[in-house]
Amino acid sequence: MTTEDLRLTIAAELERTRARTALLTEAVDDDDLTRQHSPLMSPLVWDLAHVGNQEELWLVRDVGGRDPVRQDIDELYDAFKHARRDRPALPLLDPLEARAYVARVRDKALDVLDRVRFDPGARLLDGGFAFGMIVQHEQQHDETMLATHQLRTGSPVLTAPPPPAAANAVRGEIFIDAGGFVMGTDTEPWALDNERPAHTVDLGAFWIDAAPTTNGQYAAFIDAGGYDDPRWWSERGWAHRQKAGLAAPLHWIRDRDGWLRRRFGHVEPVPMEEPVVHVCYFEAEAYAAWAGKRLPTEAEWEKAARFDPATGRSRRYPWGDDPPGPAHANLGQRHLSPAPVGAYPAGASPLGVHQLIGDVWEWVSSGFEPYPGFRAFPYPEYSEVFHGGDYKVLRGGSFGTDAAACRGTFRNWDHPIRRQIFSGFRCARDHV
Ligand SMILES: [Fe+2]
Repeated sequence: MTTEDLRLTIAAELERTRARTALLTEAVDDDDLTRQHSPLMSPLVWDLAHVGNQEELWLVRDVGGRDPVRQDIDELYDAFKHARRDRPALPLLDPLEARAYVARVRDKALDVLDRVRFDPGARLLDGGFAFGMIVQHEQQHDETMLATHQLRTGSPVLTAPPPPAAANAVRGEIFIDAGGFVMGTDTEPWALDNERPAHTVDLGAFWIDAAPTTNGQYAAFIDAGGYDDPRWWSERGWAHRQKAGLAAPLHWIRDRDGWLRRRFGHVEPVPMEEPVVHVCYFEAEAYAAWAGKRLPTEAEWEKAARFDPATGRSRRYPWGDDPPGPAHANLGQRHLSPAPVGAYPAGASPLGVHQLIGDVWEWVSSGFEPYPGFRAFPYPEYSEVFHGGDYKVLRGGSFGTDAAACRGTFRNWDHPIRRQIFSGFRCARDHV
């Protein structure tokens, strides 16, 4: 890619991302923007100004070497300084001020983009990394804001066409033969520090489900008394299930004739062929035990997603190296729900595993740990401070994740009790 092409690509990605931020923040009134919809989430107006503040810090001040726009608000929008539950009490910019602020920062960032030299010797700028990091950061907050919309009560404000129907039946398990594969990346220009470096991992043979666990399968676990039987739960999982009173995925409502769910303000029957979403790690773990299986490790998930036995190499995505298109995966908030299993035959991996990318984030059994040879970049707060914490990894992105923030190597992590995120899972088992 020429430098001019890189500039155009970055400008287009910044603009596309901002359009989504605008949609998510303009769909509600000022009261909804400034209110806290759940103690787990920031007020939407905090996310908005925080996105602008990170853009100011990295692109305007660091890359551009420009004077600060609003140094006085850095502290308010530092995610490490204030827990989400405390953010509504802060003297935040109001919606009008927040919109004016992010627009002013964006003007300056675009001016920096026009003038910057993408010197390959400067790691922060190699391949446009700093800009890619800011695009991904804003897209990640757009997914967080979508999760806030899901927690919001009141009439629906977001609309989108339904996801595609299933094209074929995808059932059962796929056998993944023993052997090494390359996990992580050295070559994705916008990959974050935790996806690096590429390294070979040797795995024994295992089986993995061809598709994520569906609502129908999960409902069978509930019907079988899965939530009332400590046999299926880890000790911590059972303690949490008791304390939190878990009895079904978040947003499910028991109806006389079956299950309903609340989805962005609509109440509707639970579609049984869609991947289950809004379950915590402990619920995923309990389902897997009940089904006589387990969750895949992170390496197993990535091998199932990327390894091509014909060439021996790992692909960027399950379907190949091309960026995600609408036929490959349910990404980018194009639809406001997961798609039924079998809806993306063109997105299957060479080993025949479906819907690894998009639809629902998939809990894996691994904690969030550095790859061998990890180096924090561009700052320890991106990943390093979370290593060794009480986190489980989630892979593959959801219908709320943008393609810019989702690769075959992309790693997400969260506390095992969290389920306000678009989290589901698939099962695996040992080959014996
Ligand atoms: Fe952030």
